[in-house]
Amino acid sequence: MSEIVERLTAEDRGAEIARTLLFPYLNHAATMLASGYATRDDIDAAMRFGCGYPVGPLMLIDALGPETVINGLQELHAETADPLHDPAPALSNLADVGATPEGSEPQLRRDIETVGVVGTGTMASGIAQVFAQAGYGVVFVGRSQEKLDGVVSYITKNLDRAVERGKLDEDGKSNVLGRLTGSTERESLADADLILEAIAEDLDIKKELFADLDRIAKPGAILATTTSSLSIAELAEVTSRPGDVIGIHFFNPAPVMKLVEVVSAESTKPDVSETAKALSLSVGKHPVSCSDRAGFIVNALLFPYLNDAIKLHEAGGGSLEEIDAAMKGAELPMGPFELLDVVGNDVSLAIERTLVGQFGHPGWEPAPTLVQLVDEGKLGRKTKQGFHSY
Ligand code: 3HC
Repeated sequence: MSEIVERLTAEDRGAEIARTLLFPYLNHAATMLASGYATRDDIDAAMRFGCGYPVGPLMLIDALGPETVINGLQELHAETADPLHDPAPALSNLADVGATPEGSEPQLRRDIETVGVVGTGTMASGIAQVFAQAGYGVVFVGRSQEKLDGVVSYITKNLDRAVERGKLDEDGKSNVLGRLTGSTERESLADADLILEAIAEDLDIKKELFADLDRIAKPGAILATTTSSLSIAELAEVTSRPGDVIGIHFFNPAPVMKLVEVVSAESTKPDVSETAKALSLSVGKHPVSCSDRAGFIVNALLFPYLNDAIKLHEAGGGSLEEIDAAMKGAELPMGPFELLDVVGNDVSLAIERTLVGQFGHPGWEPAPTLVQLVDEGKLGRKTKQGFHSY
């Protein structure tokens, strides 16, 4: 903690960049806490376990001292006149807000032995790996045998790396792979106790899937989405069992990032929310709870910061390398442009547009360079070219 405080209060160029990008993020975290959207512990845990930050934003405000953050924001606001840089009234009065209510450990209120995963992309593959490694039988469904093979090779590569590093033996690897069953037929999900989808981030595509899962899934099965930005309620509505529909949002890369955001819509039954939390714990993740609003906790805090980094670069505030280095200097695991390339510029642009739709802040309008890169098909690591080249 002391290193990051030292960095953020230093007088060099890197520290100035870090303050310019982190203070608005802290301002937003304070507003989120004061609004009652999530507890203090969950907001801090979300950024630590979802993005690998060394400390959560509220802990960081405490460590820096609210006055330092308020003064920094006032300076920024004097330059930009952006209302997002106007210090939130909540900043000076956070101490007693948003404590986690006392409660008991969440329990699996429904039996979960077999997990269905729909999708074959990076998130779906990572999620299938997480459940298989934790001992669950996993049925994963994709549109072609080639895509199913892609999931197995993604997981095999990760397991091979674990074997090389001595964290898993060959038997362990075969056991994990043996728990995976691929299928091109959604009907194969009929016996799953929980079905989690990680398909295209498009409401119409997901609605079609949920209506079909409603037809296929057995009574009592939980229908979950790992959407990062779409409404859980709208997906629940197309089923005859809205109480069984929930968001279980994993982070990229799913096998590594410890966070799961458990997103309950108003219609979600309490035993489903509790089971989703208990299940997350049983696969070694740290669940946080929030309600059904675009961006949930992490994306609502992370993507405005990533967008600000692009805008700072556009305004001549630093090269890509300089800004990446400044943020890693402030103890973040990746620079903003490195992370944008991992997440995918198309995914980031979609999230930013949803956030503007939800919150309406003009200051969060996607940076022109992001839009341009997406238009040019430069989506990040997956296309070998994004902000950086690979
Ligand atoms: N898949 C599986 N495992 C991976 C992996 C991947 N893509 N990348 C790394 N790993 C594993 C390694 O094998 C290693 O495992 P081990 O400790 O068991 O040996 C471990 O992760 C650490 O890897 P490295 O030492 O090679 O790398 P780093 O120390 O640089 O850590 C990182 C990599 C964990 C990805 C780290 O850079 C990090 O925390 N980055 C931030 C990622 C982030 O912010 N994600 C959130 C994005 S937003 C999002 O997902 C929301 C969505 O809605 C868009």
